[in-house]
Amino acid sequence: MAAKRDQWGNRAAFVLAAIGSAAGLGNAWRFPYTAYANGGGAFLIPYFVALFTAGIPLIILEYGLGHKTQQGAPGAFKKIKETWEGLGWWAVLISFVIMSYYGAIMAWIWKYLAGSFSVAWKSGVADYFYKEVLHLSSGPAELGGFSTPVLIGTVVTWALIYFILRNGVTGVGKVVMLTVPLPVILLVVLAVRAVTLPGAIEGLTYYLQPDFSVLTDPQVWLAAYGQVFFSLSLGFGIMIAYASYLPEDSDITNNALITTFANCGISFLAGFGIFGTLGYMAQAKGVAVAEVVDAGVGLAFVTYPEAISLLPGGPVAQTIFALVFFLILLTLGIDSAFSITESVIAGFDDK
Ligand code: ALA
Repeated sequence: MAAKRDQWGNRAAFVLAAIGSAAGLGNAWRFPYTAYANGGGAFLIPYFVALFTAGIPLIILEYGLGHKTQQGAPGAFKKIKETWEGLGWWAVLISFVIMSYYGAIMAWIWKYLAGSFSVAWKSGVADYFYKEVLHLSSGPAELGGFSTPVLIGTVVTWALIYFILRNGVTGVGKVVMLTVPLPVILLVVLAVRAVTLPGAIEGLTYYLQPDFSVLTDPQVWLAAYGQVFFSLSLGFGIMIAYASYLPEDSDITNNALITTFANCGISFLAGFGIFGTLGYMAQAKGVAVAEVVDAGVGLAFVTYPEAISLLPGGPVAQTIFALVFFLILLTLGIDSAFSITESVIAGFDDK
């Protein structure tokens, strides 16, 4: 007889775990730069269209699929139709690929968290990131050896993922009681401080000022759908796996709506925190906001740390701000990281 399937301790454990999976680096880092690179405030139109036409229906579908079949993605698709199992493995493969780089980004965050105590990047933020943290070589052909801090951070991240997932969803249910509310509280602190900085309003204007002409650009719509899929962890097999541990009498639709809107709220909040601070930095440097913003990796690891090193209040205030920011990234990221891993584990475990 098959062993009894693991179950969430209660509804809150499942909802928090799902929000924890959805809310990650995709909210605090990817959402703000995707929004401003694709029309600022106007991006919210394709974003909400994507949310209502794909995000919400698909998250309900993924929850329903996992809940009904009590299987991770491959087993769930196989139960619908024998030949569809490959679709589930495709989702597992996506999770596997994302899991391998998500862990590395978490490692960078550990290094910055440690560096926060002395605002270690203040003498040259780009050099700090590309040389000291990444040990960036001249190109892919030159391997350039290990970066010790990244190696240590990766080991720490994977050790955490291992210890959290070791006891199944019971362990996950306990961890998310901390890793979901904590970053939200810290994000509120960050956003309030950021929007009260001088110049913040220019940053927020830059972020939210709508440029409606972009709505005819298909790339903007693609970016909106991409953001919704990534941020809600759709197509990763995660939501199917998580819902497969739900008891029979669970409320799928409400759980899906709570996850979706909590995830959106966290994205918007992060945008205020980031752009408020960037507005201050632009004013401190006497340049336009557009000149300080970096639409990619650099936003969280170069631009924002530089803004922190320019904050008023001296080294103590800067250290506190840095600790808050990197703790947010870490606590937002860790529950996404282990949920991505859980999708892969559930696939193989069920098999
Ligand atoms: N949904 C996760 C994130 O936003 C993967 O980071």
